[in-house]
Amino acid sequence: MKAVVYKEYGAPEVLKIQEVVKPTPKENEVLIKVKASTVTTGDTRFRKADPFAIRFFNGIIKPKKQILGMFFSGDIVAIGTKVTKFKIGDKIFGSTGMSIFNAWAEFICIKEDATITSMPVKITYEEVASVIFGASTALHFLKKANLKKGDNILVYAASGAVGSAVVQIAKYYGANVTGVCSSKNFKFVKSLGADKVIDYTTEDFTKNDVKYEIIYDSIGKISYKKCKNSLTHSGLFVSNNAGLGDYLNLIWTSFLGKRKIVTGVSSDNLEKLTQIKKLLETKKITVPIDKTYPLDQIIQANYHVDSGHKKGNIAISFH
Ligand SMILES: NC(=O)c1ccc[n+]([C@@H]2O[C@H](COP(=O)([O-])OP(=O)(O)OC[C@H]3O[C@@H](n4cnc5c(N)ncnc54)[C@H](OP(=O)(O)O)[C@@H]3O)[C@@H](O)[C@H]2O)c1
Repeated sequence: MKAVVYKEYGAPEVLKIQEVVKPTPKENEVLIKVKASTVTTGDTRFRKADPFAIRFFNGIIKPKKQILGMFFSGDIVAIGTKVTKFKIGDKIFGSTGMSIFNAWAEFICIKEDATITSMPVKITYEEVASVIFGASTALHFLKKANLKKGDNILVYAASGAVGSAVVQIAKYYGANVTGVCSSKNFKFVKSLGADKVIDYTTEDFTKNDVKYEIIYDSIGKISYKKCKNSLTHSGLFVSNNAGLGDYLNLIWTSFLGKRKIVTGVSSDNLEKLTQIKKLLETKKITVPIDKTYPLDQIIQANYHVDSGHKKGNIAISFH
């Protein structure tokens, strides 16, 4: 079978499409013929080993896990002898997780009790494979921040994979959403439900005296220090990409003052995947896809993500 293999860290050209051995399902696993995947900033970080600490997980000199891709959708084409939850022919989507990856391959094996579930109807393979990264991160951090109906939330980088999901899920929870993006993305971010948009290239939202219960930085280009005067008395600065300064501020704000910092790492699980499926089925969220690339253009797709200016998500089609 074909898979995208990388044997060194670096620019998109380290990715090579090669023939590798097709996996065989163990007794508790299903074999999936992958129909679609996505390229996320999580994949590109592992491709580049950025930050350096990634090398402690995936090999100091060269990558140990050599097939990237964390999210997929596809059809079950074989099952292990003890599998009871799924049958051949089921259309499923899910996440392999950071310890496995492997989704940029024509076939993958995964345990039946992993983060996989049946696909919602009337949604494409590309959409379901692309939605999980942003939506799962948004659900994780908005829950941690205890976002409530009527809260005012500002979403910084509202046009990215995570930002576009935060806007939609915050609206679903009943918040008033201000999206910060460039003016070329105003229409897009408003279409996701944002009540107000601010152009980060022409306006500094920290200078307009408006206060928010939550400021959600989805890209790591602002900081608690910059935003603290734009938070309400007990407001939260939420960042899925906190820098060193934010971690230092997190230490003292956890003891002193009412304004706090919420950060950390999100992970996927079946409960969140099921929640995402329901949000899709009930049309509470949509899946913005900037561009779909065929598998043999995986390098171009990686360059698109590396640009830092994609609109929502990038899908990879295998069919
Ligand atoms: N902690 C966790 O668990 C976790 C989970 C998921 C992601 N992350 C991290 O979160 C980060 C964002 O991920 P992502 O996939 O959402 O990114 P992304 O999709 O690549 O973000 C792209 C968007 O960012 C906007 N942008 C770029 N520069 C900006 C700036 N200076 N100010 C405002 N907006 C700007 C772009 O809009 P314009 O084109 O208009 O500039 C573009 O729409 C990544 O670093 C990722 O590693 C962490």
